[in-house]
Formats: sequence, C-alpha cells, structure tokens
Amino acid sequence: MLSKDLLKDPVGSTARDSLPRLSIAETGFNERVQAYGATPIHREMLRDKVRVNAYAHALERLAAGKVVADFGCGTGILSIIAALKGASRVYGLELTPIADLAKELVRQHELEGKVQIIVGDASQVSLPEKVDILVSEWMGGLAVDENFVPALVQCRKAHLKDGGLMIPARAKGFAALAEDPLLEAGMDCWFNGYHGVDLSSLAHLHSNEVLNARHEITAERLLTPPAPLFDLDMQIVEASDADFEFQGVCKAVRDGTVSCIAAWFECDMGEGSVLTNAPWAPKTHWGRTAFPIGKPLRVREGQQFVFTLSSRGFGLMKAVQTWSIAGDDISQRSFSGAQVPTHSPGFH
Ligand SMILES: C[S@@+](CC[C@H](N)C(=O)[O-])C[C@H]1O[C@@H](n2cnc3c(N)ncnc32)[C@H](O)[C@@H]1O
Repeated sequence: MLSKDLLKDPVGSTARDSLPRLSIAETGFNERVQAYGATPIHREMLRDKVRVNAYAHALERLAAGKVVADFGCGTGILSIIAALKGASRVYGLELTPIADLAKELVRQHELEGKVQIIVGDASQVSLPEKVDILVSEWMGGLAVDENFVPALVQCRKAHLKDGGLMIPARAKGFAALAEDPLLEAGMDCWFNGYHGVDLSSLAHLHSNEVLNARHEITAERLLTPPAPLFDLDMQIVEASDADFEFQGVCKAVRDGTVSCIAAWFECDMGEGSVLTNAPWAPKTHWGRTAFPIGKPLRVREGQQFVFTLSSRGFGLMKAVQTWSIAGDDISQRSFSGAQVPTHSPGFH
C-alpha cells in the first residue's frame, strides 16, 4: 500500500492558479505514483531493449570502480547492470513499493554486498557517501513531461561529487506539425457525428488531451521541420529549467493533413551515443507524444503556421502542457492538458 502522503499533490492546485484546472490536480490523486508502484509500466520499460541497452552501454563505459546512485531505480534494472559492469557500490533510490521487486532482484543476483535499495524520495534520502555517477531514466515521452527534473536536480546537488557524471548528460526536446492517422480517425465522430447526433460541442474533450506512445507518427508523417524546444545540460540544469515555452513559425514541406503537434526527446548518453524516441529512430515504448489540434487541417506545401508548446511542472511527477496553432487563413486554436500514464500499444 502507498502511504497517503505519497498520494497527495505536494504543490496543490492553488499554488499555480494561472494553470488550467485539471481534475487530477483537484483530487490530489497521483496516477503516476500509483502507476510506478505497480508492475505493468515496469514490464513495458524492461521490454524496451533500445532503452535498456542505451543505459547498459553507458554504464559499461563509465561505471567500473565507481560509486553510483540510480535515481528512481524502479525494478532495480539499472542498479544491477551498474554493479555487473563493475561499479564498486550502487544506491538504488525508489519512491514506490516497486522497490520490493528491486530488492528481490538484487538478492537473486547475490549483489546485496554492492547494491543497496533505499525506499523514499530520492531528493530527500541521505546516503553514506557522495557518488561518482548519478544515473536515472527520468524521461517521459517529451522528457520533461513527468516533472522528474526538480527532484533529480536536488538529488544531484545533495549526492553527486564535484565533477561527477550524470547519465544521461544532456536532454533536448523537439516538435513538428504531423499527421496522425489514428487520431484523425478518432476525431471523425466528434466532427461528423453519427445517428443524427452532433457531437462537435464535445470535441474539446478529445483535443485537450496529451496522447502518449504514438508509434504511427513516423518520419514520413511530419509536415514541418523539427523545431528545438529545450536543451538541458544535466550537469548544471536547475529545477525551473524543465519548464519551457516555445513559439515557432514553420512552413509545411508538402500537402497533407495536420492533426497534431508531435514531440520527442534526444538524450546524450556520452561518447556520441544517443537515446531518442524521434520518429526516425528504432522503436521504443515511448513512441511520440501528440498534442491534438482539434479538427484536422488540410494544408498546402509552403503554407505558414505559428505554433506554441509549453510545459510546467506542478508537483510530484506531474506537468501540464499548453499548445496552440494559427496560420495563413487559420485563426488561433488553443489547448491544454496533462498526461496520464498509459500503455504503449504500438510498441510490440
Ligand atoms: C521511468 S521509471 C524508471 C525505472 C528504472 N530505473 C528503469 O529504468 O526501469 C522512473 C522511476 O522513478 C521513480 N521516481 C520518480 N520520482 C522519484 C523520486 N523523487 N524519488 C525516488 N523515485 C522516484 C518512479 O517511481 C519510477 O519507478
């Protein structure tokens, strides 16, 4: 059972009154803490070999003889890999009861002498020593959208030695206007109705929704060049740097139908190695994150648009995004929403 304190929103819905009010914030129920305390989301992450391999290769290069802390160790996979790659000691820090599985895996690998799983908020726990490496898989589909950065920064300040290494070392975000055939099909009932019922007044319910794991948004579905959203150097990033506001002008590279702003991240894992869920990269459980724009828009090659996308953290593992689109002959449409944890149907 999770403690009641974990389920409360530590910031609360009144702290950021300018943000749209969301039922998740109003109830204080934290779906992401719940999700990370259960196995399905971890099964998906463990099956994502592109993800795990990227970390394993980085740890293979860097961990030998080093003291490592693993922020948000989940099932302990990265802590165990670090130990197997020669780390001298590893502290696996995990907030949720999934830590029980991590302890079990550590026992099974007879690594109790090297790997210690510590249950608690990684930004608050005390460790017996400073570490050489702080490794963490903290990224949502748009990296910053699960709002781990503030706690990670606190953990870095408390526990990483001067000159110590962060894995990943850097995280960048990108976005482009895109076609999403599944989203377009899903929008049909809102805008065309059926059985004589006009549902268009409810369409905003679908548009103010952040959609995870859009594997169908491949490189050919992008209608504008990728625009850079943020660039975080994890060695020096501050908690507030994870909030961003982007506004960009772009031109359609071909005729098509825009149904969303698609977003993804790129993480530098050291020595030129990159972990990314970009549309052209090998499949990961993240897919792309899509921000719907309401009724899909037919666009012509060369047509110009302005789009905005911003994200703000508002508590433990929660962030809210706002986005808009306007363009030649298109008056501004604005939206906002927050992600809820979902499964990654297009992954396998
Ligand atoms: C994306 S998962 C990664 C799990 C594991 N490292 C892996 O690679 O499979 C992130 C984990 O961080 C944990 N987490 C998030 N915020 C935390 C915090 N402040 N302190 C400790 N754990 C945290 C979550 O509960 C979740 O298990």
